[in-house]
Amino acid sequence: MKHLVIHTHPNPRSFNHAIKDAFIDELKSNGHEVRLRDLYAIGLDPVLRASDFEAIMGGLVPDDVKTEQDHIRWADIITFIHPIWWSGLPALLKGYIDRVFSLGFAYSMDGHALKGLLHDKKVLILNTTGADRQTYEQSGMLAGITKTIDDGIYRFCAMEVIGHKYLYAVCCVTQEERLTMLAEVRAIAKTVSEK
Ligand SMILES: Cc1cc2nc3c(=O)[nH]c(=O)nc-3n(C[C@H](O)[C@H](O)[C@H](O)COP(=O)(O)O)c2cc1C
Repeated sequence: MKHLVIHTHPNPRSFNHAIKDAFIDELKSNGHEVRLRDLYAIGLDPVLRASDFEAIMGGLVPDDVKTEQDHIRWADIITFIHPIWWSGLPALLKGYIDRVFSLGFAYSMDGHALKGLLHDKKVLILNTTGADRQTYEQSGMLAGITKTIDDGIYRFCAMEVIGHKYLYAVCCVTQEERLTMLAEVRAIAKTVSEK
């Protein structure tokens, strides 16, 4: 199976980095093809500009966007690994979505009817948080963030969300708990390998 991993964290010493490494290692040891797009490393311009709108209206796709769209076309399963920042996506990933999930590629518009176009893509989301699970559940934040990400972005584009895993309070847990989390990530990679 072809796996595209979209990783968004600037710090190579972050827990997200360790998650990404464990996840990819497990996929590869299960014989899968993996491509990694590390959004900070590739330096994708995250700003949707007037030139993007002009290109879309003219039926053109900017080269840097086309490169990312080709990676998505190639993949069977796309895994997004990132922290929750300000109750949503890190700005760089939001900008990636703004530019790469464009009209004509990720969705179409027929009059007032919007239609997702990425039917054949499965999505898995691995998120870390600063707050703990109880805070997330009781405040309604978990439901809100999950709806925005799963429905508002991926299902809107007709992608199949096969999992959305939150690793809570990673800043405040013990090393042992972190290792348990990484084992969970490996188990998810193994399960996803069988889909
Ligand atoms: C700019 C910024 C915004 C953040 N906003 C939130 C937030 O809204 N909710 C939350 O639970 N944690 C928030 N955090 C904490 C991060 O989610 C947490 O530090 C991260 O998931 C830990 O993973 P890491 O070690 O890979 O960075 C924020 C952190 C930063 C730097």
